[in-house]
Amino acid sequence: MRKYIVAGNWKMNTNLPEGEKLAGDIMSLLQQRNFDLTRYGVIIAPPYTHLYRLSQIIDNSKVRLGAQNMGWEEKGAYTGEISADMLLSVGSEYVIIGHSERRKYQKEGDELLLKKISLALSKGLKPIFCVGEELADREAGRHFDIVKSQIVNVIYHLVPEDMQKVIIAYEPVWAIGTGKVATPEQAQEMHAFIRQIISDKFGNQVAQDLTLLYGGSCKPANAQGLFEQKDIDGGLIGGASLKAQDFVTLLDMLIEAKK
Ligand code: 13P
Repeated sequence: MRKYIVAGNWKMNTNLPEGEKLAGDIMSLLQQRNFDLTRYGVIIAPPYTHLYRLSQIIDNSKVRLGAQNMGWEEKGAYTGEISADMLLSVGSEYVIIGHSERRKYQKEGDELLLKKISLALSKGLKPIFCVGEELADREAGRHFDIVKSQIVNVIYHLVPEDMQKVIIAYEPVWAIGTGKVATPEQAQEMHAFIRQIISDKFGNQVAQDLTLLYGGSCKPANAQGLFEQKDIDGGLIGGASLKAQDFVTLLDMLIEAKK
């Protein structure tokens, strides 16, 4: 069954006390809500340094933890890297792979991302795999080709059983942190396209069960139109996930839209 999810990507924001406060505020708002945990999910992906502490203060039945990245090798002489085992040992259940900021600043490409996603899956971490085109690609009409190649070069190498553990987030790069959100129609069109590509390789059932998130300037002011789309199953939220009230409002809006 398809699960609807709001996931907060905190990026490089908050020090530990600030992160504890934000997680605590999110928890108190969630405590006032009862939602069907088999249908809806909440994930927060704070900086690595917060994971262990937050695993102790969140109520795991309502919020799950994710990391924002992961090393590509199992262990060894990779100074500064964080392994899948390390993430699991501090309470992470999810890991974001292939965020556009890492593709851009760390030059992460398909080959490396395939290594990371395969390693994550082999260790039991659930990947949130990000795809999305740049503004120039969209303007040149290449956006479908770009997103398709990002999926084919990585996701198509997975076995169907693993694919069922993957969440895909469509994050058009031009909408991230810019305040310029994709229209519901633009986002729905791409989400339907992605679901079709997944169906072509893994079959209709896997495609129907896939959680497909939208990311890029998504906030309470614009989420309703997005969440009402039939192939948009929630959001990967940056800026608005740093405000507890906004983040939890997005969950409320998602539940309302998918009733
Ligand atoms: P913003 O919501 O700040 O645009 O960030 C989106 C994002 O990159 C989430 O991963």
